[in-house]
Amino acid sequence: MKGLPGFRDFYPEPIPTADSWSLDLRRHIFDTWRGTAERYGFREYDGPPIEELELYTKKSGDEIVDQLYNFTDKGDRNVSLRPEMTPTLARMAAAHTRNYKKPIKWFSIPQLFRYERQQKGRLREHFQFNADIIGEAHWAADAELIALLIDTLRDLKLTNNDFVVRLSSRRAWQDFFENGGGQEKDTCDFYQIVDKLDREDPAVSGDKLAKLGFSIGQVNDFIESGQPTDELAAIIGNIEARGLGDFIKIDYRIIRGLAYYTGPVYEAFDKRGKFRAIVGGGRYDHLIKLVSGGKTDLPALGFGMGDVVLAEVLKDRGLVPALGQTLNAFVQIADESLRNASLGLVQQLRQAGLATEYPLLKAKPDKQLKRALDSKAKWLVTLDTPTQARVKNLETRGEITIPLVDVAAALQD
Ligand code: HAM
Repeated sequence: MKGLPGFRDFYPEPIPTADSWSLDLRRHIFDTWRGTAERYGFREYDGPPIEELELYTKKSGDEIVDQLYNFTDKGDRNVSLRPEMTPTLARMAAAHTRNYKKPIKWFSIPQLFRYERQQKGRLREHFQFNADIIGEAHWAADAELIALLIDTLRDLKLTNNDFVVRLSSRRAWQDFFENGGGQEKDTCDFYQIVDKLDREDPAVSGDKLAKLGFSIGQVNDFIESGQPTDELAAIIGNIEARGLGDFIKIDYRIIRGLAYYTGPVYEAFDKRGKFRAIVGGGRYDHLIKLVSGGKTDLPALGFGMGDVVLAEVLKDRGLVPALGQTLNAFVQIADESLRNASLGLVQQLRQAGLATEYPLLKAKPDKQLKRALDSKAKWLVTLDTPTQARVKNLETRGEITIPLVDVAAALQD
């Protein structure tokens, strides 16, 4: 049987084929996400992978609602696998906001599910690094998140030659829409059309815009003007003060497809334009109020960075580090009469925190050595007697004989 289309199998290195997904690479990405988020003072949270369907309908916008992986459970509840983390975060924050000092800075690495057409950079399941700030209305928080986004990608060794953050403003777009006579009920449709401008036939976009009372020329002129609002100029100034100005630019092509954004919005793209967006985010000041039925009203903002496009970009730029197993020690059992003494040693080494392997069954010494080398063990340890061990450094080939009781301490050094 095969896996479902759009779902990935993750293998340990060495991966079986060039297009297999590597669990070691995934771990490298997750470790970096966690490390950078924690350096910025963010705390990790998680939520359930299934939520009530209603949490997503109306709140996320039509595009995501069309892609929901939803079903009726055995208790006749309408539920959905989570297509994004933001509604769950809004629900969790609204429920226990008093427990936490504001602003709340939280991150998570959920696996998300969207029933979309499988294509390059888009699957039916992906992992997404989410970082959000809750309870701060000032643009200083938007800048802090953008700096975290930039530093996360820099920690993965991407430079300003590799990616750029394209910064825009929902508020600026809303002013444009209202001043141009747009009807409130059409706002979401308008955002969706602008969001797809780069991907859709201009004639199709033009027709859709005309129905809302706009011409594609008007929209393009607004994009080309590229005049930053005061708020966007302040955010850029803050990013420049950190020495990160080369990583960001104003670009009104960005508007974001999701319905709930209210202020600054942004996406990060690879600079060669070969891939879909790596990151998308922005401010969503009304979502918590909406999700809590008006009980809690807190400003909020955040971004999501997907692992699929990111892994493709890292591979494209040759930035995947050497991955694979690295053992500390391999205990060779050359003489089966010493198996029990060897097992005692394996146990000691593992208790000392050393990653240790040994042959489960009788095996030829050269096979054992090959296994030790394949798993990049640093030390090969072989008992000559129940109390004496030969310890060989497989990198330098140097060898010493020491009492069994001293092996763990010697290897730890
Ligand atoms: P989003 O733009 O829908 O935003 O997704 C963010 C990122 O997740 C995308 O830029 C992309 O890298 C990745 N992604 C999305 N869908 C797929 C897919 N089907 N396959 C692979 N990767 C995908 C959100 O989800 C917002 N909730 C982010 C956010 C957090 N806004 C505020 N806080």
